[in-house]
Amino acid sequence: MTLQADLQGHCALVTGASGTFGTHFATVLAGAGASVVLAARRVETMQVLAERLTATGAAVAVVPLDITATHSIEAALDAVPPSFGVVDILVNNAGANHSAAALEQTAAQWDEVLDTNLKGAFFLSQAVALRLIAAGRSGSIINIASVLGLRQSLAVTPYAISKAGLIQLTRQLALEWARHEIRVNAIAPGYFLSDMNRYYFDTPPGQALLKRVPQRRLGQPTDLTGPLLLLASSASAFMTGAVLSVDGGHAVSTL
Ligand SMILES: NC(=O)c1ccc[n+]([C@@H]2O[C@H](COP(=O)([O-])OP(=O)(O)OC[C@H]3O[C@@H](n4cnc5c(N)ncnc54)[C@H](OP(=O)(O)O)[C@@H]3O)[C@@H](O)[C@H]2O)c1
Repeated sequence: MTLQADLQGHCALVTGASGTFGTHFATVLAGAGASVVLAARRVETMQVLAERLTATGAAVAVVPLDITATHSIEAALDAVPPSFGVVDILVNNAGANHSAAALEQTAAQWDEVLDTNLKGAFFLSQAVALRLIAAGRSGSIINIASVLGLRQSLAVTPYAISKAGLIQLTRQLALEWARHEIRVNAIAPGYFLSDMNRYYFDTPPGQALLKRVPQRRLGQPTDLTGPLLLLASSASAFMTGAVLSVDGGHAVSTL
């Protein structure tokens, strides 16, 4: 199926653009005509993607970003090429996880997961919103949460808490920033194959988990294309504070 959205004249910043989802999101947004800013720590990986997208005629820039450091957030936004205009589509996609039983989680692991998935998403959203308000522009913020922000699983306590927090952050910011015409929505993906979880789905518990997904399959990045374009574009002009589950029915699986 071909999904269409016209994002010409918009500037989209995708965090975690060196990873599985981020690569797909950047490709989709560039394909819809947005200027795209790729942001993450692994600059060389993003340069390869930027070259590929630029070859298709897209306007793409790479900015280094450590989302856990507030000075890095400001530096990343300052590095957006002036010709791209102000960032008016933000995809908070950077994410980290440390799988361990709650009794074994360390403070350093807790901090890394919460600082990346929740605190970083908040302060980048705040920095983007301040620039949008100063420019008198509307915007769309899309937070990449997780089915684990809605349900529970073993050995992912900080991650699940960070994603539940990201869902509530989505609603908080939607409420506060509606007056500024900044919409804030979330996508809650279920289990997709990625660098973060590839090892897990080769294990017996990973295989057993798949059997509990009503649609009995892992997601593909293309399953996120429609929800992303919906939330990024004016097709969702009257949507804010929404959380879209894209999980093959996992969040509604039977008890
Ligand atoms: N795959 C799934 O099944 C699934 C399901 C639900 C939700 N999600 C969520 O989807 C998002 C993307 O996941 P993915 O599957 O694409 O994983 P991935 O391939 O491992 O990508 C994670 C991305 O986050 C970036 N990142 C991590 N720490 C960062 C930091 N301190 N500063 C800036 N960027 C940072 C990484 O970039 P650098 O290392 O280059 O900085 C990488 O690009 C995550 O938020 C994840 O929680 C994934």
